[in-house]
Amino acid sequence: MYVRDIDIDFYSKTKRLRLVKPSPLYAPTTIQWISRSEVTKYLGADFSKMTVDDEVKHLEGMVDDSDCYSWMIELDGKIVGNIEINEIKELSQKYGVKTGAFCTLIGDPPNWRKGLGSSAKKAASNWAFSEGDFELIEAKAYIQNVRSWGALDKLGYHYEGNEKGDVDGNSVEWKVYTLKKKDWKELSWSLKQHD
Ligand SMILES: CC(C)(COP(=O)(O)OP(=O)(O)OC[C@H]1O[C@@H](n2cnc3c(N)ncnc32)[C@H](O)[C@@H]1OP(=O)(O)O)[C@@H](O)C(=O)NCCC(=O)NCCS
Repeated sequence: MYVRDIDIDFYSKTKRLRLVKPSPLYAPTTIQWISRSEVTKYLGADFSKMTVDDEVKHLEGMVDDSDCYSWMIELDGKIVGNIEINEIKELSQKYGVKTGAFCTLIGDPPNWRKGLGSSAKKAASNWAFSEGDFELIEAKAYIQNVRSWGALDKLGYHYEGNEKGDVDGNSVEWKVYTLKKKDWKELSWSLKQHD
């Protein structure tokens, strides 16, 4: 699903960061991101055989998928990543309140650790709690993915503990974080016009 573009004014005075609608036109860019193992190694899926056509279908599907809200992350008019709030049905059942899981990707490694992922997470959290009717967001990161869970820690997401699992026959371990709407309201970066 896609609802609306979101301007991220707090990122920079000179650069324009936004969350925008996914489009199949971005496939030639996104296929380059997911062809790099350093980018995908903690995403829990094998993207190495994806073609541009597969990516076109994937980007079209993002807008149609009723279980997931998706945005592309755009910096100064150029697509640099994407962010999703997904698994809404399963997690809402698990927690008993409207819940989604975060997945963020900044596609080009030189763009990592510049605050893009954190800013996108702040903006999507603000949307989820103030407009999207969410009560809880869950975010899991591989224990090795320091940038991913480091960003969640810094944002004020609550560390719930570790979870072990199996991905393609390999044992993996995630750090699990959550943020409740009532705790989001107390964070310095939360929108202040909430109820
Ligand atoms: C994970 C990812 C989305 C993070 O986005 P990002 O834009 O690089 O992250 P940010 O710059 O907003 O924040 C990173 C934070 O992690 C923390 N961090 C990073 N490296 C760290 C380290 N070595 N030790 C401790 N904390 C660290 C810091 O708090 C850092 O913020 P700071 O630079 O302001 O101190 C991005 O690196 C990415 O797309 N990686 C590949 C795909 C992926 O693994 N996605 C997540 C799985 S769903």
